[in-house]
Amino acid sequence: MSDLRIPTHPRKEKITVYVNGREVLAYAGESLHAALLAAGFFVLRRAGSEPRGFFCGMGVCYDCLVTVDGRPGQRACMTRVEDRMEVELDVD
Ligand code: FES
Repeated sequence: MSDLRIPTHPRKEKITVYVNGREVLAYAGESLHAALLAAGFFVLRRAGSEPRGFFCGMGVCYDCLVTVDGRPGQRACMTRVEDRMEVELDVD
């Protein structure tokens, strides 16, 4: 999967997060929202049969809930990435 980040934007150091066990590139200081979108994760969970992903991007809609380091119900758009963070998406 290609990186969807704007290539000319300056970034801090590379770090690694794990998404459903898969290694994903992130940059220190960016949100988990940014890292997941850049890696091509658009569906984060399901509400019944309906897919949920990013909607507002500013902590209001709660559509971006994921599990972070074993803590369920974390908003990806309000969570800053940390090296070796483990993220679980509730998707098949
Ligand atoms: S995208 Fe709306 S709360 Fe995260």
